[in-house]
Amino acid sequence: MKTVLFVGAGRHQRRAIQRAKELKLRVVAVDRNPDALGLAEADIARVVDYADVAAVLKAIARLRIDGVLTVSADSAVPIVAAVAAELGLPGIGVETAHRMTHKVAMRRRLAEAGVPQPRFAALRTLSERRRALDEVGLPAVLKPADSGGQRGVFRVDSGEDVAAHLHEAIAVSPTGEAILEEFVEGTEMNGIVIARGGEPFPLTLSDRLRPPGIGFGVGWIHVYPATAYGHRLEESERIAAHTVRALGLENGIAFPQLIAAADGRVVVVECAARIPGGQMADLVRHAVGIDLVEVQLRLALGQELPDELVRPRFEQPLAIRFLTAAPGPLPTGRVVRVGSLEKVRAFPGVVQADTYLQVGEVIRPVRLDGDRRGYVIAVGETNLEALERAEAAASLLDVEVEPE
Ligand SMILES: Nc1ncnc2c1ncn2[C@@H]1O[C@H](COP(=O)(O)OP(=O)(O)O)[C@@H](O)[C@H]1O
Ligand SMILES: [Mg+2]
Repeated sequence: MKTVLFVGAGRHQRRAIQRAKELKLRVVAVDRNPDALGLAEADIARVVDYADVAAVLKAIARLRIDGVLTVSADSAVPIVAAVAAELGLPGIGVETAHRMTHKVAMRRRLAEAGVPQPRFAALRTLSERRRALDEVGLPAVLKPADSGGQRGVFRVDSGEDVAAHLHEAIAVSPTGEAILEEFVEGTEMNGIVIARGGEPFPLTLSDRLRPPGIGFGVGWIHVYPATAYGHRLEESERIAAHTVRALGLENGIAFPQLIAAADGRVVVVECAARIPGGQMADLVRHAVGIDLVEVQLRLALGQELPDELVRPRFEQPLAIRFLTAAPGPLPTGRVVRVGSLEKVRAFPGVVQADTYLQVGEVIRPVRLDGDRRGYVIAVGETNLEALERAEAAASLLDVEVEPE
């Protein structure tokens, strides 16, 4: 029996841990939170802050580990790479892990490789603001160099905006760095690319729709297939693959995020080296019949990846509608009662739906990934029909709130 180590064992990892056990693997999991949902599922659980590689290695010192992985946690990617390197297990390499989790390192590498991207500048202090603004221009996006889930991401329209938000952006960066980027208007697309033996293969490309206003970076609807077609679609897939190659990911799952700009360019927002969160693995399963968790487990164990595990088995149009506050289907306020999902799940075309809402929590206007409090996935003859169904089904969930 092979043993895999999961770095991080939260809500996203839990399903993957269950899947690993179905595949007859022994699971060791580490998380700093003793109540992390995935720890209870693991065969062997260790409570340890995984940001500390030495502590992780110590916690697993007496165990025989055959592979190491994470699911959906960007902060775990460099740790997985370091543990793999230390134990001589298959991994993406510490350098590649850094380039695929640190936005400044990523942008520098993509620039060298000639991958189209927004103008950018790195900054650590307010005194660098003027230089950064001169290089980038306005409007711009300010974000931490190494965080995720839209934490510390701001659209800025003036030097004062940069001054107002720089502290918060830097505060959520473990390396204390921020990046300023040209704001690119357009249609955002999410890709899933699987690299095998240095060959990246684009598996899915979907539109990632975002709400207006402060939550401009939150993916609140995914639509598959993407609406781009013809030359634009080909170019987007080519850029997704070029990005993965440029960043040096030879064997792994990559999550490139692109924007098809109003002016005709397709630019790279970022590219992660992991299974994305936010139901993207469900999108891939329902849309093309591929199980990303199984792929990641095989990559971690250094096992062969036959074509049938990584090539689309079918192409099923679908849409994911996240449950968020207005203009999403949820009201804002303190939750008093959450109705049943039965009606939602019974709606034509719905293949999966869930909510994380809890009585007593406060629903706020959408700003972060974490403001998505559930989702509905629907399929259809076309992506448009799937979207209409997901929207209609999402509106059937009754959530009662009282003013906060
Ligand atoms: N340069 C940009 N122009 C326009 N929108 C952007 C830009 N950078 C980021 N965004 C928006 O913000 C979101 C989050 O940014 P991203 O760099 O992916 O950070 P995170 O690590 O939080 O996911 C993106 O998915 C996109 O919607
Ligand atoms: Mg992102």
